[in-house]
Amino acid sequence: MARRKIIAGNWKMNKTPSEAIKLIEELKPLVNNEEVDVVFCVPAVSLTKAVEAVEGSNIAIGAENMFYEESGAYTGEIAPNMLTDIGVKYVIIGHSERREYFAETDETVNKKVHKAFEHGITPIICCGESLKQREQGITIDWIRQQIKIAFLNINSDQAKKAVIAYEPIWAIGTGKVATTEQAQEVCAAIRACIAELYDTKTAQEIRIQYGGSVSASSAPDLFAQPDIDGGLVGGASLKPDFGKIVNYNK
Ligand code: 13P
Repeated sequence: MARRKIIAGNWKMNKTPSEAIKLIEELKPLVNNEEVDVVFCVPAVSLTKAVEAVEGSNIAIGAENMFYEESGAYTGEIAPNMLTDIGVKYVIIGHSERREYFAETDETVNKKVHKAFEHGITPIICCGESLKQREQGITIDWIRQQIKIAFLNINSDQAKKAVIAYEPIWAIGTGKVATTEQAQEVCAAIRACIAELYDTKTAQEIRIQYGGSVSASSAPDLFAQPDIDGGLVGGASLKPDFGKIVNYNK
């Protein structure tokens, strides 16, 4: 069974709610590709309107973060059932920017992955090495550690539904995309790690994205790699170019 591609936009901290609706309306006709699952991950304050705006289209809405408790005294945080209540289907977990600026760790990532599955939200679990780690030759070791902790006590039925996004930190927002060989090598290593943790079937089903300066010109080669099942796209997801990325195979 061939894995279905999944291409997600990560809007990060961009667009007000009214700008978000405009952008969704602009992109909606451009992101039709029956072979691809399309996800827009938008800022929390725009989620409700975004879900309404994509109704009847092929686009699903994702959040960019979520907390791992059900409710309570956690000022500023967003609970999983707040997301499901409004129809959010995906959540990005452990983006490198959250790890760097908001103290996310592999442990909090694991807690959030558990919560996401408990609530039927598909987690897009991010991993990736810094430039220093790549130069030190520890990329694969580092990624394997991130993956192993993210999936602690997650069962195989859950794991096969997860999405993993490999995003080398040095390629994010830098215009410096990883080569297809570099991206494929790490995505294959992630799949091998999942096979070790679970089994071959789980590894064959789980979807692994590449993220980091994906553009309309780099997408076709990247997404043609055997272990790359789509992308997590930052800057280019805010532009009509995202339509070209989603239609990378046309
Ligand atoms: P850019 O596509 O802007 O490099 O961002 C990638 C990213 O961080 C997606 O989550």
